Amino acid sequence: MLRVESLVAGYGRITCLHEVSLEVGAGEIVALLGANGAGKSTTLKAISGLLPIRAGRVVFEGETLNSVPAHQMARRGISHVPEGRRILARLTVDENLELGAYARSDRKAIRQDRDRVFGLFPVLAERRRQLAGTLSGGEQQMLAMGRGLMARPRLLLLDEPSLGLAPRLVEAVFSTIRRINQEGVALLLVEQNAYQALRVAHRGYVLDAGRITLADTAEHLADNPSVRSAYLGG
Ligand SMILES: Nc1ncnc2c1ncn2[C@@H]1O[C@H](COP(=O)(O)OP(=O)(O)O)[C@@H](O)[C@H]1O
Ligand SMILES: [Mg+2]
Repeated sequence: MLRVESLVAGYGRITCLHEVSLEVGAGEIVALLGANGAGKSTTLKAISGLLPIRAGRVVFEGETLNSVPAHQMARRGISHVPEGRRILARLTVDENLELGAYARSDRKAIRQDRDRVFGLFPVLAERRRQLAGTLSGGEQQMLAMGRGLMARPRLLLLDEPSLGLAPRLVEAVFSTIRRINQEGVALLLVEQNAYQALRVAHRGYVLDAGRITLADTAEHLADNPSVRSAYLGG
């Protein structure tokens, strides 16, 4: 479904991604692991058009996306939920969700999708008219994921969805990731919580200083001694 081929990207004169190649199949959850600064967020930004691609290709459902701007990605079927829950604090929960569907005009289907988001995140339904800035950190993360789903993506790029959340909410986020996937959405999941990520993912990659150093099934990665010592605490 998604094929990233020898992707090179960076900021200014700095190159952060050195020929990164990875794939996400339809219906898959693929984890992208790596230490802080390895280039995980940069990879997602390059895929979703937020950062120019310097070399290599991003191919989604057979089409090259290299020069498709970020605001057209939703229409192509890709939603990016960036790091740090970029919700709009001064808008309500409903309004934030509405923005997630900006590329669509099918009002009835949008309402159905909003109800589906409320099914995944009941707390958002209770807080529909509350300003997003007044939600807790966990609720804001749920809203960010819900907004990403409102574009009705076939591929969801999730950047550190569990970062900074209390353990109980981390569990909730990962079980929701599983449910989203069961509804047919493929996910590329960036996580520092390698333990949880490998529990939900089918496959995974390890990114080290902008290079893919390991690619395997989630099960094999969780058993790999170097993954265990670097990301799973031994
Ligand atoms: N906006 C930016 N401008 C310049 N350098 C950046 C910017 N964002 C990230 N970087 C650098 O790019 C590298 C990869 O960052 P990032 O993709 O955010 O890593 P990760 O998400 O794996 O923690 C890091 O060295 C980081 O400092
Ligand atoms: Mg990051």
